[in-house]
Amino acid sequence: PVDNRISHIASSIRVIPDFPKPGIMFHDITTLLLDTKAFKDTIDLFVERYRDQKINVVAGVEARGFIFGPPIALAIGAKFVPMRKPKKLPGEVISEEYSLEYGTDKMEMHVGAVQPGERAIIIDDLIATGGTLNAAIRLLERVGVEVVECACVIELAELKGRDKLGDNPVFVLISST
Ligand code: PRP
Repeated sequence: PVDNRISHIASSIRVIPDFPKPGIMFHDITTLLLDTKAFKDTIDLFVERYRDQKINVVAGVEARGFIFGPPIALAIGAKFVPMRKPKKLPGEVISEEYSLEYGTDKMEMHVGAVQPGERAIIIDDLIATGGTLNAAIRLLERVGVEVVECACVIELAELKGRDKLGDNPVFVLISST
């Protein structure tokens, strides 16, 4: 049975065509955040899924993984680890490059934030091509962390981002075509 919280969450997300450039359908989660029920239900759905999975680490991808990750981490008793854009973190970092439509970007994490053998979930608002989550998975796996699952609010299914993540599972609330 479809959880009817999900259809409400889906309807709270605003889709803006041609942002930030022509041809892109931007899925704007700021309207979800304005809807107190939709926001709470979003967090609850993830918490229900992960609370009994012995998760030590919630890794949040900049920027919108910083919105959804911390309340999930607090509720399941895990630490929150930010995965940041380059040159933002002050301590020693490890980094992974990943390709964008034009050029490359980098994701960074503090050395010592996670320990080998810890169990992590990675949170972001949306998976498109999968390049961002792929970099986050590589960063964590390089230091011996077990990535249990990636979790996103929205998947742009046509872009087949899952195919970029190998055997790593992705859980999404809403699959958009
Ligand atoms: C968006 C989104 C994901 C990423 C997904 O972030 O929030 O992090 O793109 O794309 P992918 O699956 O093709 O890698 P964006 O690049 O807009 O960065 P921001 O959240 O810092 O604005």
